[in-house]
Amino acid sequence: MKYIIFSDVHSNLEALQALLHHKKTKGADKFLFLGDMVGYGPDPEKVIKLFSQIKNLHLVRGNHDKVIADLEPSSLFNPIAAVSAEWSKTRLSDKDRRFIKKMPRGPQVIDRFITICHGSSFDEDYYIFSSFEASESIKLMNTAIGFFGHTHYPILYYTRNEKTDSLPMKENTKIKLDANTRYLINPGSIGQPRDKNPASSFIIFNSDKMEIQFIRFPYEIKSTQEKIMAAGLPEILATRLETGI
Ligand SMILES: [Fe+2]
Repeated sequence: MKYIIFSDVHSNLEALQALLHHKKTKGADKFLFLGDMVGYGPDPEKVIKLFSQIKNLHLVRGNHDKVIADLEPSSLFNPIAAVSAEWSKTRLSDKDRRFIKKMPRGPQVIDRFITICHGSSFDEDYYIFSSFEASESIKLMNTAIGFFGHTHYPILYYTRNEKTDSLPMKENTKIKLDANTRYLINPGSIGQPRDKNPASSFIIFNSDKMEIQFIRFPYEIKSTQEKIMAAGLPEILATRLETGI
């Protein structure tokens, strides 16, 4: 079985289109999305429409999805996230809003291999930035492999013999998963990478070979930036797409 795992699209239509046209996503059996479909970017309605057309999609909601679906107030956000969330709300039809409102809360068990969540297994909004936090999340999973998003930072945590450690993920890295190890893996972000590399990132998991591969790909950043500026969204959102921070 071939899985495509991706996260944090953040209303970036050009990046999502590039993912779906990427030759390595062809023939996928399942697409697993780890939350934050909308927020920050300039195309919430088109991104929601494109998501609604992805076949064999399993997903969890992100914190931006909750705020833009009116499930939580934007006052919990920093000013840039709040401004873009309020702007995104004005763009959505009732149908769009219903679509993001229905996104399930994580964690979700996908099958005998995989659990997905946005932040962590114990709190959908919690940011995992350390091996300790990853180990707590791994302990609460009912499967050996978990995927998470939220930090926009590609990394692989693993627990073996009760010790948790991490491996940074580089482009095209292939890793064979071990049967005696438990994993919590972040594919990075499609729409707003934050590891100083502006290229979008995702993961392919091949469950027959028990192998994962990290992929990076470029997209039309300039078009997205122009739309951000034309919409009157904060300029820093356009700058970040170039710097990857
Ligand atoms: Fe996010």
